[in-house]
Amino acid sequence: MSSVEDREREIMLELVRVTETAALRAGRCMGMGDLNLVDGAAVDGMRGMLSLVNIKGTIVIGEGEKDHAPMLYNGEEVGTGRDNQELDIAVDPVEGTRLVANGLPNAISVIVVASRGSLMPVPTFYMQKLAVGPEAKDYIDINAPVRENLRVVAAALGRRVKDLTVVILDRPRHAELIHEVRQAGARIKLITDGDVAGAISTALPNTGVDLLMGIGGAPEAVITAAAMKCLGGEIQTKLWVRNEEDTARARENGFSDFDRVYSSEDLARGDSLIFAATGITDGDMLQGVRFYGPKATTESIVMRMLTGTVRRIHTTHDLSRKTLRSFQAGQEMTL
Ligand code: FBP
Repeated sequence: MSSVEDREREIMLELVRVTETAALRAGRCMGMGDLNLVDGAAVDGMRGMLSLVNIKGTIVIGEGEKDHAPMLYNGEEVGTGRDNQELDIAVDPVEGTRLVANGLPNAISVIVVASRGSLMPVPTFYMQKLAVGPEAKDYIDINAPVRENLRVVAAALGRRVKDLTVVILDRPRHAELIHEVRQAGARIKLITDGDVAGAISTALPNTGVDLLMGIGGAPEAVITAAAMKCLGGEIQTKLWVRNEEDTARARENGFSDFDRVYSSEDLARGDSLIFAATGITDGDMLQGVRFYGPKATTESIVMRMLTGTVRRIHTTHDLSRKTLRSFQAGQEMTL
């Protein structure tokens, strides 16, 4: 047993505690209509819990640049530091802030931990995405016409195109894509936010969705890629720039080939990858946080690439006894 394997096994439950804490904090703010409240609570909870985990991590994908984010900013060192192995960390304390603020489905809290240098440090621009589960992953081609991708996925799944369900973010930029999917005859599930859960659902059994297509955030693509590798699925991506400003920013960050296809392996390299997520609002992938008097329940998923183990963890939290670490307050708090 290598030390990497040992370490991974040891920290998996710790990482679930990190996403659980962010989800519990955000879950309390569900439906209040306040995006900053949701995000602030989750970031503080996630950062607080991360500081207790015995890792030496650097945030590669986080809340943005240090000037704009007080916690979980790109480059921030997290964990107790009491470990030799240096790790890349990607986080999204609330993937789908608007979903939580409005009480809509599919918001999750998520973290990816990988060996140093594995995760592509993408700035917050957009990527075109095509995600599928294990059976179809060898047949898709993001450069092929929509109709062709639907045909090969249907064949790989042993179904007809009209039986497929495609998840697409509901955005004006997807008008043509939606038209093409409809013309090809597949079913569509429009989501208002949260393409990480949308993409991962294509690789999980019994979610009722088969592909994710369309343009979403680049950091979210890296997080998705780690999950897809653990599950044996695939996400293909390409940079998508809206205007000259985006193009210049991409070039400044070292991205100049806008035709290049980035696979899951390009975005999240190697086999030392752990993905953990907790549901905030109810969704296809995870149940959301529920509060019952002094108790709360959460559902999480944690998986790792090395072994392909996928665990679902249902937790009951006794809020009359449990405290959560607030990073900003520097102390424990009750929920
Ligand atoms: P947040 O986590 O910042 O709330 O983002 C949610 C999300 O819907 C992502 O899932 C998606 O990749 C991205 O925003 C799409 O960006 P935009 O809302 O600009 O179309």
